[in-house]
Amino acid sequence: MSDSNTITIQLGTRQIAPMGTGTWAWGDFFVWGYRWGNDAEIKATFDASTDAGINLFDTAELYGFGRSEQLLGQFMRQNPVKPLIATKFFPLPWRIRKQAVVRALRGSLRRLGLASVDLYQIHWPPSTSTIETMAEGLADAVEAGLTRSVGVSNYNVDQMRRTHELLAKRGIQLASNQVEYSLLERMPESSGLLAACRELGVTLIAYSPLGMGLLTGKFTPENPPKGLRGRWFKTDYLERLQPLLGKMRDIGTAHAKTVAQVALNWTICKGTLPIPGAKSVRQLQENAGALGWQLTTEEVVALDTISAAVPKPQH
Ligand SMILES: NC(=O)c1ccc[n+]([C@@H]2O[C@H](COP(=O)([O-])OP(=O)(O)OC[C@H]3O[C@@H](n4cnc5c(N)ncnc54)[C@H](OP(=O)(O)O)[C@@H]3O)[C@@H](O)[C@H]2O)c1
Repeated sequence: MSDSNTITIQLGTRQIAPMGTGTWAWGDFFVWGYRWGNDAEIKATFDASTDAGINLFDTAELYGFGRSEQLLGQFMRQNPVKPLIATKFFPLPWRIRKQAVVRALRGSLRRLGLASVDLYQIHWPPSTSTIETMAEGLADAVEAGLTRSVGVSNYNVDQMRRTHELLAKRGIQLASNQVEYSLLERMPESSGLLAACRELGVTLIAYSPLGMGLLTGKFTPENPPKGLRGRWFKTDYLERLQPLLGKMRDIGTAHAKTVAQVALNWTICKGTLPIPGAKSVRQLQENAGALGWQLTTEEVVALDTISAAVPKPQH
């Protein structure tokens, strides 16, 4: 059996470990309850990530309205490791021309304190512009030397194929499509997106791979999440998750691994790149424990089967 420590994944022109760290919570108050006083803990989490060899950080201009990028910039200046940075352009309704992409990227670079990023992604399919305009903007960003590779996010199969084709005409490979993918969100399999990613050589970056914390097993009907997640994930949904979490616990015990580590390893077994968010050193180190071992084929199939019976939360 292969060992997931030895697995690398192609992202643009680079081979990297099959996990990154998501930084939406680093600066976001509304969903994740960020406070300025949390910065020391977040900095320690960043350092724990690079210590664990998890050197890809995913951010976005939107996260904390730029705060996540600013924090990453500060942390990078205080850490000798030069990590890979992926950030995102948000196609706001007035951003209809391709020039908006390069302009926004320059703003991200200023906040990050970098001359270029490793991956620049369109955060969401545009509503007032076109897929082709966004792709031209990405290609311009590569040609201006502001990003080493480009990706998309929340694109369906057709939108991804069109972007792939347009970039290819300009000699650029579409590196990634970042979508929600976990044992609670199997849409990339049923829609054919994961298969299309494999066919085109596009890395599927799995966001919310811990189901926003649900797949750690820490929330139960008796101990529901607080804040917005408490409104999204109601008691009856938490009850219906318990058989899946029980199976994950049993499988994890056989490998001396936790429920969260099983959840992340499952996404790696599917050939995707999970980017779990972490708010503390403890969470980061637990998530890093998803590397260095692998679920058996039988265990993956058992998890596939039981997760297919769990309904999607409505939020
Ligand atoms: N492209 C997009 O549209 C999009 C959308 C969503 C996310 N993303 C990206 O994907 C990343 C990850 O997704 P996500 O943050 O939504 O969800 P996630 O990775 O599924 O869950 C992260 C949250 O779960 C909790 N957690 C993490 N590790 C834990 C552990 N070991 N034990 C217990 N709790 C743990 C933490 O919150 P608590 O401690 O508060 O429970 C953490 O913030 C984001 O940071 C962002 O970079 C992208």
